[in-house]
Amino acid sequence: MNTANRARQLLETLAKKRAEARVAGGRERLERQHEKGKLTARERLEVLLDKNSFTEMDMFVKHRNHDFGMEKKKFATDGVITGYGLIEGRKVFVFSQDFTVFGGSLSEAFAEKVCKVMDLALKVGVPVIGLNDSGGARIQEGVVSLAGYADIFLRNTLASGVIPQISAILGPCAGGAVYSPAITDFIFMAKKTSHMFVTGPNVVKTVTHEEVSMEDLGGANTHAEKSGVAHFACENEVEVLTGIRRLITYLPLNNLEDPPRVEARPPDEENRAAIDDLVPMNPTKPYDMQRVIASIVDQDSFFEVHSGFAQNIICGFAHLGGHAVGIVANQPAFLAGVLDIHSSQKAGRFVRFCDAFNIPLVTFVDVPGFLPGTDQEWGGIIKNGAKLLYAYAECTVPKLTVITRKAYGGAYDVMSSKHIRGDLNFAWPTAEIAVMGPKGAVEIIWRKEIAAAEDPAGMMDELTEKYREKFANPYVAAERGYIDDVIEPHETRERLIGGLEILATKVDSNPKKKHGNIPL
Ligand code: HXC
Repeated sequence: MNTANRARQLLETLAKKRAEARVAGGRERLERQHEKGKLTARERLEVLLDKNSFTEMDMFVKHRNHDFGMEKKKFATDGVITGYGLIEGRKVFVFSQDFTVFGGSLSEAFAEKVCKVMDLALKVGVPVIGLNDSGGARIQEGVVSLAGYADIFLRNTLASGVIPQISAILGPCAGGAVYSPAITDFIFMAKKTSHMFVTGPNVVKTVTHEEVSMEDLGGANTHAEKSGVAHFACENEVEVLTGIRRLITYLPLNNLEDPPRVEARPPDEENRAAIDDLVPMNPTKPYDMQRVIASIVDQDSFFEVHSGFAQNIICGFAHLGGHAVGIVANQPAFLAGVLDIHSSQKAGRFVRFCDAFNIPLVTFVDVPGFLPGTDQEWGGIIKNGAKLLYAYAECTVPKLTVITRKAYGGAYDVMSSKHIRGDLNFAWPTAEIAVMGPKGAVEIIWRKEIAAAEDPAGMMDELTEKYREKFANPYVAAERGYIDDVIEPHETRERLIGGLEILATKVDSNPKKKHGNIPL
């Protein structure tokens, strides 16, 4: 064969191998994926990444298993597409599990591919995004597959707090396989087509005799509303992938960088104008904290995380004068904004994410305290509430706090108070900073006097008013410097932006240690 022919043949071989890898599991299986309402692993990457930015690695990898006739069944890629690309021009590493090859199940070679991109992402200092759609451990490979999972779990753990890790669940995700996404920072699920559980409905039935559907046991709504495992439940896969693109725009690429600045966009006039009247004069009347946030942050910039879970606290990213911030806010319109087990877990994890990735925190406070009751006590509100307290206390990013109304009891301390290193703490004139609500306080302090009074109700009202005047206002705290200033609601946006700017070079640290012992 002459040299020209030989060269042509080499190129043809390469082209053939590439073409084979692109339809790894075969066209029929790719079609079946569409019939289930799912995109293929490669189509997902096209939606996730900037146009033509994906560079594939390891496309020729095949498994090395010789058991159960597997030596005759080999597909290039071995069930996972890996590589790197861009989101809004910024680098990310990705892996996208391909259900058309052995059901996306994880083999030794598959795990090596995933580990390779994770190792590179950590060295380069850019996020890893995993698109999960898999039947779990490659059953034919046995313990080798379990070892592969463990290799990934270890990398997830070591990368935690160093690079952002984001998981999309776009199909089955069962058994120990759920623990890789669980260690990552954010989980997106697609409604109806994605499921996560430790054991499926059949095993549940055998063990506990419960009858439960896949969807109820581990569908997107279940995890976004009940368990809190998922941060986002999206209508479909495209919404998942565009959601990840949006999330990335708020984040630095790694823990040594600051989040990117964007152009400031003041909130629209309607939102701005409403702010002075948002808090009702009657302290027992609820209002929507979402409106407070919308009237302060850059227009349409609020990106809520965990919106369906523990709705008594709001967490999410936003831009304020073009600065990326993490927002934590009690929601008086849901359970009066009380702190409970779930809201403490939700906000505690969010605060720690922001702290790890240099994202300043802005906290809006209207909290009547911790939720009482046996459910909460037996469920461990003490140790769970302590998670949020610990998270705020150890956090060293700029912390700005605005008390809009109630800041009662231990919850006052927890919600980014001055005492746990709040940098700039503001209160609106409607703020009530006290050990507890005036009525509760009066009932305890003057119980005997009220019982003996001729007109107990009248006395109660009188004392309640007295207590409110004395303590249920921002000025006692402001006199002590626990509040840096009492501001009008419409001043808040400018004060926060000014605060972010003055605090931009803040340096603070914690005592040197291996790691703390957050009450898990
Ligand atoms: C090897 C697998 C596989 C697996 C699916 N396939 N799961 N191959 N190992 N785990 C293959 C099937 O043989 C089939 O091959 C193709 O993938 C598609 O599977 P179907 O069953 O036809 O698809 P579907 O009806 O959509 O059902 C999907 C499924 C089901 C629900 C995921 O396949 C299933 O139950 N799989 C087994 C799940 C499981 O028990 N995994 C192990 C869990 S333990 P062909 O050639 O026909 O296309 C685990 C431990 C991890 O994961 C521990 C980590 C620490």
